[in-house]
Amino acid sequence: MARPLPDGLLRIPHRTGVPFARLTTLGVGGLCRWLFEPATEAEAAAFVRACAREALPYRVLGGGSNLVVLGDIEVPVLRLALPRTLERDGNDLTAPASFNHIALAGAAADLGLAGLEFASGIPGSVGGALRMNAGAYGREWVDLLARYRFVAPDGEVVEKRPEPGEFRYRWSWLGEGRVVLSATARLVPGDPEGIRARAAEFKGRRGASQPLSRRNAGCIFKNPPGQSAGRLIDQAGLKGLRIGDAEVSPEHANFLVNHCRASGRDFLELMETVRAKVLAVHGVALESEVELWSEEAPPPPAPVAENLEPGPEPGLP
Ligand code: FAD
Ligand code: EPU
Repeated sequence: MARPLPDGLLRIPHRTGVPFARLTTLGVGGLCRWLFEPATEAEAAAFVRACAREALPYRVLGGGSNLVVLGDIEVPVLRLALPRTLERDGNDLTAPASFNHIALAGAAADLGLAGLEFASGIPGSVGGALRMNAGAYGREWVDLLARYRFVAPDGEVVEKRPEPGEFRYRWSWLGEGRVVLSATARLVPGDPEGIRARAAEFKGRRGASQPLSRRNAGCIFKNPPGQSAGRLIDQAGLKGLRIGDAEVSPEHANFLVNHCRASGRDFLELMETVRAKVLAVHGVALESEVELWSEEAPPPPAPVAENLEPGPEPGLP
């Protein structure tokens, strides 16, 4: 990056030149030039404040399980490394945003708290899951969310209850520079064995239909209302379509898999091809579920009045 980073930022723990192959489940992208890993909420807030002061754009990374990175990323990337401790208060369970999402589901079962079974097969972090309002088998995060903490674009730490309009299917207002710090799930008491059995049943269903042995980023497109993107892509005859090492999974057509050497651009081209074909065959414009990170810097987050409406559908660049 041409611009030197401010000293306030460089005091926060960081690494340089980390390959996105190691930071994402799909395993594509170039280098993460600056990876900041705050170990406390105060450091995370200091990161956002330092960027806000300089109008410096940044990106937030969780477990990298919903990302297609297209090249080198020069802007600072924030990945929380908060202490791995859960807090229980009655039936409420609070997890730091950097806590592993699948591990949280397991911990809730061990504590005899039911409700997070749907999460047991969804990789990534708790922060990413809240940001995406991740869900499966009829449940999504907002269904059990009691409250959450985040850093606002001006660096202020906010704790709040969810309100209407903040979360919907695979979308939340927590983009645009907001950094989730923790989420509190309101669960219900249950027998650990029964909870584990339900989670295992979900995992079994997932394993039977999803290509879990290959690198992937989950479903690539959102389901259009009342329809399944996977079925639409399958019916368009696209299973097995391949660009370089990027392939439409023969097991589940809404999963694109990486046969080791694919590039981010291969996936972008494959997504564009699938989208164009489904539009031509079914007249349906698929909306991307994965987030695409291009080399261009995102706009700096504006510490302005919060707009709860989702932005215009960006489509594919
Ligand atoms: P990342 O991929 O790192 O980031 C995704 C988005 O969240 C980005 O916009 C990023 O900026 C933002 N983000 C991450 N952390 C924070 C934070 N602390 N604060 C603010 N923003 C943040 N998803 C489902 O919903 N249901 C499924 O059933 C499902 N199954 C999957 C199965 C497989 C095999 C895989 C690989 C993925 C699957 N996914 C599924 C997609 C993915 O796991 C979820 O979207 C997940 O919640 C993303 O979390 P993450 O930490 O990996 O986020
Ligand atoms: N189908 C096909 N061909 C395919 C894939 C699916 O015909 O190649 C059919 C299936 O036979 C089924 C229907 O499409 O009748 C739906 O498929 P599936 O049950 O696999 O569910 P999905 O709608 O494809 C959604 C979520 C998944 C989540 C599962 C389970 C989206 C985009 N996908 O998949 O979430 O795990 O339900 O709840 O909402 C993700 O978001 O990344 C993700 C993996």
